Amino acid sequence: MKWEQVFASRASRMKASEIRELLKLLDQPDILSFAGGIPDPALFPTAEFQTAIADILSGPRAEVALQYSVSEGYGPLRDWIAGQMGRIGVPCDAGNILITSGSQQALDYLGKLFLSPRDTALVGWPTYLGALGAFNAYEPEYDRLDPRTNRSADDYAEAAAVKGGRVKFAYMSVDFANPTGETMDASARQSVLQLAEDLDIAIIEDAAYQSLRYDGEAVPPILALEIAQKGSIEAARTLYCGSFSKTLAPGLRVGWICGAREVISKLVLMKQAADLHSSTLNQMAIADVAGRIFDDHVARIRSAYRARRDAMLGALAAHMPQGVEWTRPEGGMFIWITLPAGMDGAALLARSLQGQRVAFVPGAAFFADGSGRNTIRLSFSRTDEAVIAEGISRLGVLVREAVGAVG
Ligand SMILES: Cc1ncc(COP(=O)(O)O)c(C=O)c1O
Repeated sequence: MKWEQVFASRASRMKASEIRELLKLLDQPDILSFAGGIPDPALFPTAEFQTAIADILSGPRAEVALQYSVSEGYGPLRDWIAGQMGRIGVPCDAGNILITSGSQQALDYLGKLFLSPRDTALVGWPTYLGALGAFNAYEPEYDRLDPRTNRSADDYAEAAAVKGGRVKFAYMSVDFANPTGETMDASARQSVLQLAEDLDIAIIEDAAYQSLRYDGEAVPPILALEIAQKGSIEAARTLYCGSFSKTLAPGLRVGWICGAREVISKLVLMKQAADLHSSTLNQMAIADVAGRIFDDHVARIRSAYRARRDAMLGALAAHMPQGVEWTRPEGGMFIWITLPAGMDGAALLARSLQGQRVAFVPGAAFFADGSGRNTIRLSFSRTDEAVIAEGISRLGVLVREAVGAVG
C-alpha cells in the first residue's frame, strides 16, 4: 500500500522529533545526558501517590474514578487550580478551567481551535519544539515574535496576508523557557499584550515551568497583567496553559487551560470529540496529592534543581572557552548555549557521541526557520552535581577542540 497517497496533507508536516530520537540514547549507560528536559524520577512524590490511589480505589470514590466523566475535568481539581491561579493574580473559578492530558494536549487543542491552513502563528525563534509539533498538524505559517524589536502590527498582518491567511495567536513559553531558560520580563509581556491587542489575536501563555523558580522575583503571568487592565478574565484574550508534569508527575498526564468561559466552552466540545475526558483516576490522585503537599513538594524540588543549575553554571564558567555564551536561568530545567558563529550543534553532538559521550540537544530543532545551528540546549534536571561536573568538563574538551578547528 502506498500510504503517502492516502495520508492527509497535514501528515507531511509530522516528522520525528530530534529530541525523541535522542531520548533513546539515554538507555546507553555510559552516556552522560543533558538532552531530555524531564524531571528527576527520584523526586517524584511516589509514596503520596501510592496512598492517594489506594485510598481512592478502596472507598466510594472508586466508582467515580473508574466511570466515564465530564469533559471539563474533575471538579475538585478544577477548584484547586482556580485557587492557585488566584494566588498568581488570576481571579477565576472552575468554569475558567479545562483539564487536559498534559499541557501538550492544550497546545494541540489551541492549534486546532485557531489555525486554518496558511494562518500565521507568532512564535519565538527559538521556541518549544513540542509546540511547533502540535501546531504543524494544522498547517500554519510561522512568523517571529520578538518583543525586543518594534515590528508593527501592520507589518505582521501584511506578512500573514501574503502567506494566504491571518495572524491568529502569539505563543510563548514565558518563565524559564524551553529551550533557552529565559524569562520574559513584565515589559516584554506588556508589549506582547499590546501587539495582540493591535492585531486582535489570542495569546497562548505556556507556563509549564512557572512553579520552578530558584531565585529572582516572580513576574506576573500575561493573563494576570491583562485581567488587571480589563477587570475580568472573561474579557481576556490570553489562554494560560499549566501543567503538573514538572511539579508532581508527567506520567499522569494532567495539565489545564485557564481562560475566558467563551473559549473554555468551545474547548470542552473539542475535548468531548477528541478523547471524552482525561483519566479521572489520575485527576483525582493529582487533586489529593496537590491538596496535601503541593507547596512543600515544590519547595523540595526547587532546592534540588537550584543546586544542579548552580553546578552547571559553575562548570560552564570553568570549562567553556572564550566566545561561547550561555543563559543564566532563574528557574526551570534548561541552559542555552550559543557557540561561535560557524559551529554546528548537530555536528558537535555526532562527534560527542563517538568520543566524549555527552548528550545534548542541537538548537536548530527549536527554530521554525531551521536557523540557530550554532546553539545547543542543556538540561540540568536529571543529573546530580557530580555528573554535571564530569559531563560539562567533557563538553568543554569537545567545544575547545571544535572552536580550535573553526578558528
Ligand atoms: C514549554 C513546554 N510546554 C509544554 C510541555 C508539555 O508538557 P506536558 O504535556 O507534560 O504538560 C513541555 C514539556 O516538556 C514544555 O517544555
